[in-house]
Amino acid sequence: MAGVPVFGLIPKVPRAEACPEEYVLHDPRSHFHQALRRAHAALRFPRGVGTQVIMIASAAAGEGKTAFCVSLARSLALIGQRVLVIDADFYRSRVAAAFGGRDAPHIRDVVQGRVSLADAVQVDARSGAHFLPAVPERSDPQLLLQSDGFAAMMRGVRETYDIVVIDTPPVMAATDATAIGAFADTTLFLVQWGNTPRSIVGAALRFLHLCGTVVDGIILSQVDLRRQEHYDEVYDRTPTSGALPTVQASSEDRSGPTRDPHADDVRASLNPGAS
Ligand SMILES: Nc1ncnc2c1ncn2[C@@H]1O[C@H](COP(=O)(O)OP(=O)(O)OP(=O)(O)O)[C@@H](O)[C@H]1O
Ligand SMILES: [Mg+2]
Repeated sequence: MAGVPVFGLIPKVPRAEACPEEYVLHDPRSHFHQALRRAHAALRFPRGVGTQVIMIASAAAGEGKTAFCVSLARSLALIGQRVLVIDADFYRSRVAAAFGGRDAPHIRDVVQGRVSLADAVQVDARSGAHFLPAVPERSDPQLLLQSDGFAAMMRGVRETYDIVVIDTPPVMAATDATAIGAFADTTLFLVQWGNTPRSIVGAALRFLHLCGTVVDGIILSQVDLRRQEHYDEVYDRTPTSGALPTVQASSEDRSGPTRDPHADDVRASLNPGAS
């Protein structure tokens, strides 16, 4: 299986500062903000054509998907992009709360034709980003995701927005990302640095691959820069184009959860030629 390139690193926002989606509003020159912009720059043309719809996935819960979706949307909206975040996590639906909005009307109302997309989306007054909430579903979310109404909604959002970012549940917990991926131009896979076992990452990537979902790039999330000996170099040398380091999703990968699974990838990104 081909390796998946590492598109970038998202720093961990110090707990004392703010939550990430709040922090992104504070300082556009911060490492966090710049890392989001770098990630966006890297995913603009991963398949040789422009990216409009981006799906954010990860193997496990708590890796930072929702925080990334909301922070990226705010960052891009602040420079004038028309951005929509769709909450397609029907288990831990958190997009509306992260924006400080309400959770109704929500995506099911749009997909089932009760409310128009324009009436359902909310506007984040602090950035101009738009968002479409979800609520936890009692029925199987696949019924919603595979309906004609969902496909129609996805065609509609392409006519209205420059960038659409879709939040999803963890791949190891739900198969929804495989259905949503069919509507995305690009799939970004977040890996929580120093936490998610390499074997879990590999299993999730293999599963997506088997289901035909192309993962274009990996973002290492919540990277603790203070734990990096040469953290300045991370920013100076993390590639956003050209020959990118890769993370293999091969079945030979059997590393256990006790090692720091991402330090090697970070080192590889710092030092792609080193043995
Ligand atoms: N870059 C970051 N710096 C600091 N904290 C972060 C960062 N990214 C995410 N977090 C924190 O990690 C926790 C989990 O983040 P988040 O809810 O975005 O993960 P998730 O992948 O969406 O989880 P789930 O799969 O359960 O929905 C939250 O408390 C969030 O504030
Ligand atoms: Mg989430």
